[in-house]
Formats: sequence, structure tokens, C-alpha cells
Amino acid sequence: MTGAVLASAPGRVNLIGEHTDYSGGFVLPVALPHRTHVELVRRADRLVRVRSEALGVAGYTLGEERPVGGWIDAVQGCTAVLRGSGHDLGGFDLSVRSRVPIGAGLASSAALAIALLRVLRSAFSLPLGDVELALVAQRADHEFVGVRSGIMDQLVASLGREGVPLFIDTDDLRVEAVPLPAGAELVVIHSGTTHHNASGAYNTRRAECEEAARLLGVGNLRAVMRPPSGLPAPLDRRARHVVSENARVLETVAALRAGDLEQVGAQLDASHASLRDDYEVSSAALDLLVEIATAQPEITGARLTGAGLGGSIVALAPAGDRGAAARIAAAYATRSANVPSVVLPA
Ligand code: GLA
Repeated sequence: MTGAVLASAPGRVNLIGEHTDYSGGFVLPVALPHRTHVELVRRADRLVRVRSEALGVAGYTLGEERPVGGWIDAVQGCTAVLRGSGHDLGGFDLSVRSRVPIGAGLASSAALAIALLRVLRSAFSLPLGDVELALVAQRADHEFVGVRSGIMDQLVASLGREGVPLFIDTDDLRVEAVPLPAGAELVVIHSGTTHHNASGAYNTRRAECEEAARLLGVGNLRAVMRPPSGLPAPLDRRARHVVSENARVLETVAALRAGDLEQVGAQLDASHASLRDDYEVSSAALDLLVEIATAQPEITGARLTGAGLGGSIVALAPAGDRGAAARIAAAYATRSANVPSVVLPA
């Protein structure tokens, strides 16, 4: 197509640092090989027309963005936030093709938002850096989609390199690549379950963390170094998760640098237990997948990844071992009514 502008952005799997990014904490996500691709053709009018292979067709007029409760809100949110910040846009036709599994806890929405913002930046010569793109995508989530997300997914979609864990301090947005040791590889398996009220549960957890911080007299839970005492339930458990998870991310970064895969695995296992018992965002399906994964001799650790209550698990396996993922999925399929899919190794 003449005049078409192309862009893409990856989904992510979070290795560790779950539900810490809206408390100023540490995260360690990894960009996936699975990407969302977009193609934009400018229009002479103010219309936006979007055709998504997976989601259908929708449209609106620039300047008249209104949340409608559908997938188009992610697109409307980005153009509304850009225009609100003084960026000049014209109408466009957009086609979207995504290889990031939807509803799998692998940040398909951030991949779409960053791919869209990249293509808008090229097509309309917007003077925006990669971190700014992530911040625009996050604002679109807050103001249009109604999810008060942290910044992890958007940042790794914008800055991440495929397969390389990105250590992010969400308090000051400093990022540092911490490669996996040569002998290690990630296994990611989708449980085949999706949480139906994901944004409601997510916003509730975020509000609980903010309330815990308020009661402790700190700006956010990042400022708390030791599991606090004296908070009412369930805020005590929520805060304990965030504080201990931040420590686990730092332990994991040190263990990756030392090539200590047993230690990385131990942190993943402890993260899952904390998300299950203290943060209460696991599910029977995710617990079963983690149980099966950790029973494999070559797997050093496993945990749910992403917001939870459905979606995927991540596990650490020896590089080049394709057998473990297939065995985990097969064992899960015999013990569950849900149909798993192996996301990594791809
Ligand atoms: C979702 C959000 C992220 C993060 C994770 C949980 O993916 O978009 O900001 O909070 O959940 O770690």
C-alpha cells in the first residue's frame, strides 16, 4: 500500500517483580518474540478507522474520543492523550495484526499501544522519546481503559530487547539490561484461563497498596524495607507481598549476574507463594501449572506471571531443552478442563 507507515512492539513475560510497579518497586520483565504489528495510512479528514485481525473493525473522529468499554478505547486513549498534550494528529486508517496471545497475562494491550504510538510518532513526526511513549500509553490506560496500570508493560514494550530481562526501578524509571545466563531459558505456558473482571480486581489491589502506604505514612510501599506490622487485614498481607517481592527482584538480579540458576528458581517459587497467599491473585489453574512445572527435575523455579487470576506461568529451564514445556502442558491438559498453550520456547 503506498504511503503506509509500519511499526511493531512486543508482548512481555515478567520474570519477577509482580504487582510492585504501582508502588514504586522493582520489576524484571522480558520482551517476547511475539509482537503486534500495525500499518497506518494517513487520511485527509479527522476520521480514525481501525481494522484488527483479532478484534474486528471500529472507528471514531479525532477530537471526539469517548470511552465506549471496548478494545477501541486503547486507541482512542492514545490519540486523546497525545492531542491533550498538544500534539497535532490527522485522521488515519490503521490495520492491526497481533501475535501476542490476548488475555494471557502477556501484555497484549501494551504491545498494541506502543506499536500504535510508534507508528503515530513516525507518521506525524511527533517529538517523543521512548520513555514518553510508555507514559502516554499508561495515561491512556488510566484515563480511557479504566485500568490504573503501573508502567512495567509499556516500558518493556517500548525499551525491551527480545529475550533480555530488563531491570526497571519504577520509582525513577531507570532501566538496565540483565541478560539470562547462557545456560538458561524461559518457559512460558498459558493456562487457557482468563480472568473476567481483571481490571476490577487490579484496581482494588492498587487501592489497597495506596491505603497501606497512607496508613504507614509513606508516599508508596517502595519506601518500606521490612514487612510492616500494625496494618489491618488484608492490607498487612498486601504490603508484605510488595515489600518481600521487591527484595526478591534484587536477589534475582544478583543471582542472574552470578549465574546462580538455583537461586533464581528459589526466588520464582517464593514469588508464586507470596502472590497466592498474601496478594491472593493466583487461581486453581495457575497453582496447578506451577505445581506441575516445579515437579519437573530440570525446572529450577516457576510462578504466575502478569496480573494473575488467570493467564500464564513462567519457569526457568536449561537452554535448549524443549521437552520440559511440552511435558508440563501435557500433564496439565490431563488434570484440567482448560487447554494450555506453550508460548515459550516459541
Ligand atoms: C499488569 C499491569 C502492570 C503490572 C502487572 C502486575 O500487567 O499492566 O503494570 O502491575 O499487571 O505486576
